[in-house]
Amino acid sequence: MGESKVLVGVIGGSGLYHLDNLTFVETVNPETPWGFPSSPITVSRLPSGTLIAFLARHGTGHTISPSAVNGRANIAALKSLGVRAILAFSAVGSLREEIAPGDFCLPSQIIDRTKGIRVASFFTGNIVAHASFADPFSKKLSAWLEVQVAEALKKEGRDIKLHTDKTIVCMEGPQFSTRAESLMYRQWGGDLINMSVVPEAKLAREAELSYALVATATDYDSWRPHEAGVTAADVFKTLQANASASRFVAAHVLEELAKGVADGDLMSILTEEEGSMKFSMM
Ligand code: ADE
Repeated sequence: MGESKVLVGVIGGSGLYHLDNLTFVETVNPETPWGFPSSPITVSRLPSGTLIAFLARHGTGHTISPSAVNGRANIAALKSLGVRAILAFSAVGSLREEIAPGDFCLPSQIIDRTKGIRVASFFTGNIVAHASFADPFSKKLSAWLEVQVAEALKKEGRDIKLHTDKTIVCMEGPQFSTRAESLMYRQWGGDLINMSVVPEAKLAREAELSYALVATATDYDSWRPHEAGVTAADVFKTLQANASASRFVAAHVLEELAKGVADGDLMSILTEEEGSMKFSMM
């Protein structure tokens, strides 16, 4: 890696275990005070020369269940490489008719329905801190992504819709929701559902990293009357196509971000959360 620092980290979800168009630099597996990350981290060089880091949330062979993902080790390992912003990808269920399997979404809000099994804070010892989390995704990064993801999808020439400003429900899993739960989430204002954005987004905020989620819909969950509820087979059906579109989007977005950072105009996106914990300590 030499002297150059890795500025951007990508966390790949179900189906997304590697990225395209990158020059491999090295694989690292940093041990953090919270253990090892879900997978070794691949450090690669973008065409512009910038280094990026890729981590597979569920392990390289998808062996880690959502409740068992070591979020603290993942975030700490990326931070230890110099990462300032994280672009997280995730397969999600759709709670809205207009969000079809295959569509891309950039959520702006989270409803946390995890069950307290996952350690969701770095502050579990005798330092008490309360991070601000009203806007769980970094606003500058998300606004910039909205333009860039739309541009990437247009460039790819496939008719893939992008939805923005959506609310994602994060459930514990690993079983999918009941019909009653799925309907309740819709009443609560949920648009999407996954099993992974919590505690990842919370830990990224505590680590003062910019964080945004690029969600790809794989199914309609279990709220549609007269339709069978979601199965893992439904999710797998769209996973491959979504992952290939995600790789294309990631390649475009990462290159544009790297260029912008090199020019100096996008540095504020990477530093958006820096200092945000300053007034959170009790
Ligand atoms: N990930 C993909 N589809 C999902 C669903 N319907 N519920 C929870 N997580 C998901």
